[in-house]
Amino acid sequence: MAIKYTKKVIEHFQNPHNVGKIENPDAMATEGSPACGDQLSVYLKVDKKSQIIKEIKFQSYGCASNIATASIITDMALGKIIEEAKKITWKQAADKLGGLPPIKMHCSVLAIDALRGAIKNYEKNKLGKKFDESLNKQSIEKQLNEVIYGKVGVDIISLRLVKYIGIDEKNNVLIELSLNKEDQFKDDLKHEITERLNRFPKIGKIKIALV
Ligand code: FES
Repeated sequence: MAIKYTKKVIEHFQNPHNVGKIENPDAMATEGSPACGDQLSVYLKVDKKSQIIKEIKFQSYGCASNIATASIITDMALGKIIEEAKKITWKQAADKLGGLPPIKMHCSVLAIDALRGAIKNYEKNKLGKKFDESLNKQSIEKQLNEVIYGKVGVDIISLRLVKYIGIDEKNNVLIELSLNKEDQFKDDLKHEITERLNRFPKIGKIKIALV
């Protein structure tokens, strides 16, 4: 079945804004989508004094939805101070595009991941900011907030699909998902959760059980 896109998505896909690379950026990040393996790079120039994003560009190796969301989020971030730009969410980006098909919602998460990654690198390398990468229930939940259930295009925390998060003394993690064993998206979800949790430097084994 053909995927239906809104007029706005098609507009941004056909004529994306802010495409390209910035030579000598203040920061950049390339992120990959755990859901599909596609990649997106975001480049930033930030005004030192005001912390305003004065230039932003992207290069996408993703699909039409990813190009459209990268186009819209770079528009949204341009001219904002970095504190504000990092609050932009995948949901806001998708809403600005008039919505995305549920199965394509994860493409907007990739766009936001790359934007936030570039801002984080700016804060780390130019402002000397330190980030807490400790493993706990909240930090895991934050990662799971970005895992989309492709059937409805909503994250698994909002859908209350996550029934239990357990961490033992060796940092092994158990996630219990309230999902039918026959669910067509179960393997995608397991794969995406594993990839996201593996971003924690000190994580042990990850077990995902369907309950
Ligand atoms: Fe990979 Fe859209 S970014 S399917």
